[in-house]
Amino acid sequence: MEERPIGMFDSGVGGTSIWKEIRTLLPRENIIYLADSANAPYGEKGPEEILRLSVKNTEWLLERDCKIIVVACNTATTNAIAHLRKHYPIPFIGIEPAIKPAALNSRTKKVGVLATHGTLSSALFHSTSQMHAAGLEIVEQDGKGLVPLLEAGQLHGPEMRKLLELYLRPMIQANIDYLVLGCTHYPYLVPLLRTILPQGVTIIDSGAAVARQTKKVLGQLGLLNLTAPDSRHAFYTNGSKTVLEHFVGPISKNVSVSSLPL
Ligand code: DGL
Repeated sequence: MEERPIGMFDSGVGGTSIWKEIRTLLPRENIIYLADSANAPYGEKGPEEILRLSVKNTEWLLERDCKIIVVACNTATTNAIAHLRKHYPIPFIGIEPAIKPAALNSRTKKVGVLATHGTLSSALFHSTSQMHAAGLEIVEQDGKGLVPLLEAGQLHGPEMRKLLELYLRPMIQANIDYLVLGCTHYPYLVPLLRTILPQGVTIIDSGAAVARQTKKVLGQLGLLNLTAPDSRHAFYTNGSKTVLEHFVGPISKNVSVSSLPL
């Protein structure tokens, strides 16, 4: 029973940033990861379409007997997790922009949030940011165009730098001291972000917290895999296998990447 895999999905390759955290914290767990790259970016779709795709991904993972599902996408979490929890009898772990630690620790009381339009316009994001809004200025920025570049494997090109400079300018002008990354694709941009942001701006993402929460919930439900540590990690994509392999890192006998029909 406990050897059943953890299921994960994202609109594409970004959720691999969460997978890396989970694999480190839970090295015995088998994981199935679905990259719905053919439908990326989710962040520019309407809430109904994001929900429809999240349901499709969930059912695909359930057919593969997953014991828990990690929605490794802020856009899918903020638009669909309430529905998923209500309609499917397994636990779901989601990811949301980590405004709370930034709000608690900011000295300038100015915090930047870089996320997709789908996340920033969701009711869940609105209520979370309202909760921490007292005495704080949140400078929101839609990262339009960043996910398509990452999905094309173009992390370091001039186009990426140009977009990031444009998006960070209002935040830098507002004197933020925390930047919250509200999309699981964005941790891959941290090296570039650091070259643009003034020193002293702390970048926060929620990946490690999601891994801790996954471990906690599996433990509480008696679902941790306690067998010998020979875990398997199976990745599936309906987009570019080469790009997904690049983000996954070294492929070994326990790590596979396969193509799916669109
Ligand atoms: N990784 C998704 C997220 O965390 C990207 C959304 C998109 O495809 O636009 O929001």
